[in-house]
Amino acid sequence: MHTINRNSPCWCGSGLKYKKCHYDFDQKLNVIRSQGHIVPDHDIIKTPRQIEGIRESAKVNIAVLDYVAEHIRAGITTEEIDRWVFEQTARYGAVPAPLNYEGFPKSVCTSINEVVCHGIPSSEEVLKDGDIINVDCSTIRNGYYSDSSRMFLIGDVSEEKRRLVEVTKKAMELGLEQVKPWGFLGDMGQAVNDYASANGFSVVRDIGGHGVGLSFHEEPWVSYVSSRGTDMLMVPGMMFTIEPMINLGTWEVTIDEGDGWTVRTADGKPSAQWEIQVLVTEDGHEVIAY
Ligand code: MF3
Ligand code: CO
Repeated sequence: MHTINRNSPCWCGSGLKYKKCHYDFDQKLNVIRSQGHIVPDHDIIKTPRQIEGIRESAKVNIAVLDYVAEHIRAGITTEEIDRWVFEQTARYGAVPAPLNYEGFPKSVCTSINEVVCHGIPSSEEVLKDGDIINVDCSTIRNGYYSDSSRMFLIGDVSEEKRRLVEVTKKAMELGLEQVKPWGFLGDMGQAVNDYASANGFSVVRDIGGHGVGLSFHEEPWVSYVSSRGTDMLMVPGMMFTIEPMINLGTWEVTIDEGDGWTVRTADGKPSAQWEIQVLVTEDGHEVIAY
């Protein structure tokens, strides 16, 4: 990227000459890199055209989650949620991204109570009064990826679990407030961790968020226990997920040896997660999927 001629077309595809487009931007990035920071590669900076495609994908993801929100209730199986997600996504001419992703067998992740994430829908698993469940949807539409998840309370949920779900949502929102160009991902991560910790909960460390848009999981890997001023620099056109997993007890987790997917809290206590997909804009951020 340092060899590009100032009069050549810009790498961003705008059609403008490099010197009239991202030249100053790249100079600024070089300075910040030389100060020891991690800066994004060009390939994770989305063009306006790509952002438009990703927004279209996210519309489907949001509609599918809205459908789930309207129909989820005690007595249904997580297999039924999987069917809804597959059918609703197909209705919009899109494909659920989890299906066959690295061998994942279903269209959506359904994670109940002590399941932290990547729960596999099953006809044996029935939602019951008092459960909390995360439904994590991801969509591919015209080659563009979107990813978001929500928590649902089933029937009469204990005060403790309800507080966990609320604090997790608020932690995600406080992280979002930190998303703006020329800040660092650690600004967001620290905001999440500070709020969760202040409320007596712990943030999962071994699993994080990710860049998303042109593929399912892109750079950077996103931590929610990071520190202000560290991790990758945020610049306009970057897109990633804020998806903290917050536990009532220990942050430690295990992966099911039988299915190779299901992540649970090590102490068996409940866990909650909310996920949004966010774009860094010129003056702040835009929520793409929620
Ligand atoms: N939204 C989840 C993630 O980004 C979905 C994982 S799908 C799976 O990790 F196939 F990997 F389970
Ligand atoms: Co994700």
